[in-house]
Amino acid sequence: MEEEHVHNNDISEVILTEKQIQDRIKEMGEEITKAYNEDDDIIMLCVLRGAVLFMSDLAREINLPVVFDFMDVSSYEGTSSSGMIRIIKDLEENIEGRNVLIIEDIMDTGLTLKHVIDLLKTREPASLKVATLLDKPDRRVEKEVSADFNGFEVPDKFVVGYGLDYKEKYRNLPYIGVLKKELYT
Ligand code: IMP
Ligand code: MG
Repeated sequence: MEEEHVHNNDISEVILTEKQIQDRIKEMGEEITKAYNEDDDIIMLCVLRGAVLFMSDLAREINLPVVFDFMDVSSYEGTSSSGMIRIIKDLEENIEGRNVLIIEDIMDTGLTLKHVIDLLKTREPASLKVATLLDKPDRRVEKEVSADFNGFEVPDKFVVGYGLDYKEKYRNLPYIGVLKKELYT
């Protein structure tokens, strides 16, 4: 198995293998490429830090001129939402009249994305779309936010790997797994 060389004893169950993730990202790249005009330039806006791996793999599957930008917002402490969202690092580009594609690792309550979308809308982009790798619909609080492009729906379990962390660890796992319950409270 491709996972063996990175087997991690803190993971109770692998829910998405490296191959499943990479195959889906290829499809998403095609979907996204088709959703725009071929000469549209796109600002891929990575929400730090969890979406870094997804952004870098997805970008290589999008056949459009893209620009990278990054923003950092605080949302989570440990495994539950603090309800507080704060902009730690704003993006660098002027997005007025431009196509912005927000890249997120997971949409959980939706509070983070709602806040980011509301903020970016005030800057009047030509278009504003969202691509998330994972969606945990059971936990949604902000019912009106949804992803234009989503990789996978996941059950209401705390997952790590492929960018997603628990206290900043496990981001480098190439697959997504459930963290053993005894490791967090
Ligand atoms: P939301 O604001 O509740 O939608 O949460 C979004 C952020 O919470 C994501 O960008 C993740 O950083 C984090 N998050 C939510 N669920 C998980 C999870 O299962 N594992 C790791 N991080 C998560
Ligand atoms: Mg996070």
